[in-house]
Parts: sequence; structure tokens; C-alpha cells
Amino acid sequence: MNDVFMNTYHRLPVTFVKGNGAYLTDAQGREYLDFTSGIAVNCLGHNHPDLVQALGAQAARLIHVSNYFQSDASVMFAEKLTAISQMRRVFFCNSGAEANEGAIKIARKYSLKKYGPGRHTIVTLRDSFHGRTITTLSATGQEKFHVNFGPFTEGFTFIPPNNIEALEQALDKTVAGLFLEPIQGESGVHILSDEYLRRAAELCAEKDIVLMFDEIQSGLGRTGAFLASEHAGVRGDVVTLAKGLAAGIPVGAVLAGEKTCAVLETGDHGSTFGGNALAAAAGVVVLEKLAVPSFLAEITALGEYLLEGLRALNSPVITGMRGRGLIAACDLTIDARPVLERLISRTAAGTRGLLLLQGGPQTLRFLPPYIISRGQIDEGLALLNKALS
Ligand SMILES: Cc1ncc(COP(=O)(O)O)c(C=O)c1O
Repeated sequence: MNDVFMNTYHRLPVTFVKGNGAYLTDAQGREYLDFTSGIAVNCLGHNHPDLVQALGAQAARLIHVSNYFQSDASVMFAEKLTAISQMRRVFFCNSGAEANEGAIKIARKYSLKKYGPGRHTIVTLRDSFHGRTITTLSATGQEKFHVNFGPFTEGFTFIPPNNIEALEQALDKTVAGLFLEPIQGESGVHILSDEYLRRAAELCAEKDIVLMFDEIQSGLGRTGAFLASEHAGVRGDVVTLAKGLAAGIPVGAVLAGEKTCAVLETGDHGSTFGGNALAAAAGVVVLEKLAVPSFLAEITALGEYLLEGLRALNSPVITGMRGRGLIAACDLTIDARPVLERLISRTAAGTRGLLLLQGGPQTLRFLPPYIISRGQIDEGLALLNKALS
């Protein structure tokens, strides 16, 4: 490995040079089946022809104008995104953390303007993950991310997930917003129950607290619905998206419903690159796919196939599994990291490698692209089975 990068990632020793569908190829010509989608980013797989075509055409026509103007591509993207999410307005940025910063600003300003100072607390969950900026780390309920970087943004409290009593107690008169990942992805695919999400929505409506859903990992069709919160029949006042929104081109979005769509006013917020024409053209390709009901239904079916396959492995080191659509995890009796290393090691010459993610020290996380086939799921599970045995 080279030493030009800061040492921020525990990188696996492989350098990719090209991708095609669910496969990546390294510099030595070896293929890898990708069950990570670049952490839920390459949702259409690698180099999807529709994406390549749209990006080429857009790049030839117009790549970027500042947000003091607009492009036809970004208008189309915004219209499609607000329509499919049934939200009123959108703000485009470049990443998940930035989208969450925007959401927090909306909740704080909404409360300040309506109720005055002192009502600014944002409640989030233990084991949550909302990003790496100082404020989104403040919102992240995992101590390990907090060492070394204080002091943090004030006004965040954490409650245990899926505990309705704790939720009822926490939402007091000081609270401006409740921030939830419907599925906690980073910490191991922990799913908030429909009952919990419904009670959260009810309490937020009752107390006029801004309900924010971080759907950066769980949204965009990943669970077989456009947003994971749709499974519980609830809608956030604010929803954040990023990752797969433009299938590999960086873009984030803060979506606001009727209650919050006018909170941010001229000069309150901004982004140089956010939602530029190139990202918008890619985003339109993703949204057009997700607007087709059979495309989402297939994600659900593929997810069930993956979970059944995991169950059928019957491996003594697997202690449990969970998932919804094409986000899944399985817990192991052994450390996950050596499994990831074995899955890409070259000892099994000739066979393909498999790319997987961790979701905790002893948990494997699966985020395959939506274009994965049943045959490729079988292939990946066979490679995993071999690595576990
Ligand atoms: C739920 C959630 N929120 C926020 C983020 C941060 O996104 P980004 O890395 O694009 O800033 C992530 C990234 O993993 C995430 O999974």
C-alpha cells in the first residue's frame, strides 16, 4: 500500500481499475463480486449503461453552474425527487454529513422562530451514525467516534433505540428535533420497529417537534420502498439522503415537508457544488429506476432470497441475521475483519473475491447493488461459506 493518503481508513490491500455490474476488477485482472456497492452508493452496480450514457451527454452539454442560477438538469432532479419522496422542497449538498447538518439547522431554526431560545435539543439514538463533521458527530450516539475531537456542538441527547418509554420521557419542552435512522446501518443493521416509528411520529406531531429521518443508508429503494420509513406508514418533517442518490456521483439532499419547507431563507444555508448539473443528470437516472414499482418489488424479493441463503448456510459461526430488502447483516462468533481479509485473499487462485462490509466487530454487513442477480447472490454466499469454514 502507498503512503500518500492520511491513515484514516483500515483499507484492504486491493486497487481497483474497473467495474462492470456487480463485479470489480483489480490491477492484476482479478475479479471481485461487490456486496458493498461502495457503502450503498453504487446502487445500480458499476458503470450502468444508462448512467454512463446520461453522464457523458450531460458532461458534453453542461457540468456546473453556481447555485445563484439553476440548470435544467437540477430542476428536473429536484422535481423528480420531491415527487417520489412526497416532500415539498429540497436543498442539495454533496454528502450525508452535510445533508444532516442542513436538517439540524432546519430543526433549530424552526423551533427558535416559533418558541424562542432554550428549546434547541436534538434527540438521537444510541448506536446511531450521522456523519463525521463536528456537529454530525455530536448527533452520533457512539462514544468511540467522540474521543479526541471535543468540544462538540451542544444540545444533543441520546436515547436507546426501540424503547418507547425512553422516547416519551426524552421529548420534553427543550426538544427541537428528533433524529432517527429507520435502520441503523453503520452500527450493524438494527431496524427500528414500525410501532416505534409510529409513536415517534405521533409524539413529534403532538409536541411540534421536527421529526427528521436520516435515510442516507436506508433510503433510495434499499429496503424495497423509496424510504424505509414508508414501511411504518410515517413521513418525516425532514428527510436526508445521499449515498446512492446519484449512484456514485457525490450528492446529498435535505428534503422538507410542508411544516419545514420555508424555514431556511435566503442566506441561511448554501453549497458551492450541491446538486450541480452532472450530479443531477445521474440522480435523474436513479430516480427514474426507483419510480418503477416492479424495480422496488424486485429489491424486496432479492433481499428475501439473500436472507434465505444466509440462513441456509447453517454455519456454526453465524449466530443471527437480519435485514430488509438489500441491506442485511449477520452476526458471527468470530471477528469480522479476518473474514473480510480472507474473502479478498489470493490464496484461492482462480476464484473471485467477495467484497463485504463490517457492521460492528463481529458483524458482517451486506449492501449489494440493486442489479444483483440470484445467481450472483448464490455465488457470493458460496464464497462466504468457504471463508467461514
Ligand atoms: C445513516 C448515515 N448518515 C450519515 C452518513 C454520513 O454520510 P457521508 O459519509 O456521505 O457524510 C452515513 C454514512 O455512512 C450514514 O450511513
